[in-house]
Amino acid sequence: MKKYTKYLTIIACLFLLWYSAEGQGEKIARLNLMPLPAQVAVQEGKFPVTVSFTAGIEKKTKADTGRAARAVRRMLKRLAGRTGLFFTDNKIHIKSKSLETALRIRFKREGRLRLGEDETYSLMVTPEYIQLNAETDIGILRGLETLLQLVRADKEGYYFPAVMIEDRPRFVWRGLLIDSCRHFMPVEVIKRNLEGMAAVKMNVLHWHLTEDQGFRIECKTFPKLHQLGSDGLYYTQNQIRDIIAYAADRGIRVMPEFDIPGHSTSWLVGYPGLGSAPGPYTIEREYGIKDPTFNPTIKATYKFFNKFFKEMSALFIDEYFHIGGDENNGKHWDANPKIQAFKQKHNLKDNHALQAYFNKKILKILTKYKKKMVGWDEIFQPELPNTIVIQSWRGKKALREAAKKGYNSILSNGYYIDLAQPTDFHYLNDPIPEDSNLTPEEKKRILGGEATMWAELISPETIDSRIWPRTAAIAERFWSSAQVNDVDDMYRRLDIISFQLEELGLTHIKNQAMILRRLTNGKDTTALKVLVDVMEPLKLYARHHQGATYTFFSPLTRVVDAALPDAKKARIFRKQAAAFVKGNRTKEAAEVLIKDLKLWKENHQNLQPVIVNSPVLKEIETLSKDLAKIADIGLQAVEYILKGKKPGPGWIEENKKVLQDAKKPRGHAELMVVTAIEQLVNACNGDK
Ligand code: ACM
Repeated sequence: MKKYTKYLTIIACLFLLWYSAEGQGEKIARLNLMPLPAQVAVQEGKFPVTVSFTAGIEKKTKADTGRAARAVRRMLKRLAGRTGLFFTDNKIHIKSKSLETALRIRFKREGRLRLGEDETYSLMVTPEYIQLNAETDIGILRGLETLLQLVRADKEGYYFPAVMIEDRPRFVWRGLLIDSCRHFMPVEVIKRNLEGMAAVKMNVLHWHLTEDQGFRIECKTFPKLHQLGSDGLYYTQNQIRDIIAYAADRGIRVMPEFDIPGHSTSWLVGYPGLGSAPGPYTIEREYGIKDPTFNPTIKATYKFFNKFFKEMSALFIDEYFHIGGDENNGKHWDANPKIQAFKQKHNLKDNHALQAYFNKKILKILTKYKKKMVGWDEIFQPELPNTIVIQSWRGKKALREAAKKGYNSILSNGYYIDLAQPTDFHYLNDPIPEDSNLTPEEKKRILGGEATMWAELISPETIDSRIWPRTAAIAERFWSSAQVNDVDDMYRRLDIISFQLEELGLTHIKNQAMILRRLTNGKDTTALKVLVDVMEPLKLYARHHQGATYTFFSPLTRVVDAALPDAKKARIFRKQAAAFVKGNRTKEAAEVLIKDLKLWKENHQNLQPVIVNSPVLKEIETLSKDLAKIADIGLQAVEYILKGKKPGPGWIEENKKVLQDAKKPRGHAELMVVTAIEQLVNACNGDK
């Protein structure tokens, strides 16, 4: 009997533990934080935000409070913006002890913008005050973003819920690549995206600054680089310093990428003598892998890079320099007899070996200027020392191999946000998958990852909607534990974070309405919006294979550019339809589907008159018609299912053809509800 009681007690305790953990889990989820912190405990009570909100920094050490104070100033502005409160005391109080402000900040030292700097923080919200502590001011910046995500409202007003948070990143390298070359991105685009990055605790801007299509930095030593290679679209050195300082103020490193020896047409326009072909060169207007490449066999090339990197090393203060190294097709090397002779003389068996020869010389130059070299997969060659960092874009295999061979690496494969893939695809792509077979030592060499915003198909007007909100989910992958992987909860939080990101000036939501207005020539956009809500741009590189060739000059103002990756309306419909088919065949579940299907069925007749007046919309006319047709099929299918009746012979076959046709891309975009309606049709036959 005694034993029995003991077991009962243990079971009861386990249950209680489980129960309270469940309760905490739900409460934590309701905090809507992204990235989710390492540890959160939700407490009773709240700290009300009122006009008498105050903020202070405890200055015990010699650490400069400048960056933290500027961050608190921005935080107060955002808090006032959200709450509409006119704070009466806008001073940042800096005292050596006995702070009595609402928000009390304490850190030990200034963080340095270097890899692996301490970003931990702890945040305690009590009903009396808020304490934010960190080792460095960079930790403080991360904590302030968490605090801003905590703001809530109830009928009494705005407040911070009482919590205890201990937080630190899982990976030290959490980056976003922005390609300013295929399309130039003005300073304000970079700045607002730095704000977005900081909001989700990312810490590296990988700035792709040179390409076949443009050389985007003012270069004083070799001015023909930007003068002849950029169409006048380049950043002055003052602008670059301004952006680096802006990023530093947000705890973000700026790593420049100078892509060499390939992807280099724009450099060679002003300096054709450094190319492998005779030239002349003109700025490339098309996209893809091009032939121009530096001549790695002549001394002039290395003299040039020595001076070039000397100047750039002083300008870009980050320790890491990216040299690209990708997609050098070697055609101009093969066509140049002198280069072939050089390869023979130096026993370089192929172009890969010649590129390794080039990389070694570049590494020597960068090392002289105290920079560490980073490059794409292609620079992962046994001849190079393991002080270089490999950025893996072609697959995780290279990442694992690099880690096994002692190289540090960063993952970008699976985070190519230019490919218009859904958020959950990126979210579930872990830099260190469970089956990676790496030792703890090797795992440590995987520094993190980077989302890559390549710019063939984006403009300053659309870039934000291709980066956000999906990159917030990627940021969570890099910051939070691998066990944080509930897709539904990610999507729920992502909606909230997405609209919070707008307060930073990001245009990912609002620009769509503007593009639609332009497309309808100022007419009512309602019907077009209904269609666009269930469309997505073609994925992977399919937009480049639709007949028209995209170039630097192509418009990015069409319906496809207003359509968003991972269209929410379509995603939700797919989920609801799948649940209905799988068994939740209630009238209520059907009504939800019917409401959407009816809207889509009627939509084409509303859109038709708008298309007549806007020739630019002609390309999506049949897509709109198809949406109406398949919505009608969907309505019939739902009715059959509800009535438990099977359709007559031929109905399914006939409609499958219509559904097949509806899958075809139009206007470089596709409908994202066809498969869901197909499932409904199949379910009429009893399929699940
Ligand atoms: C790359 O996408 N060529 C790095």
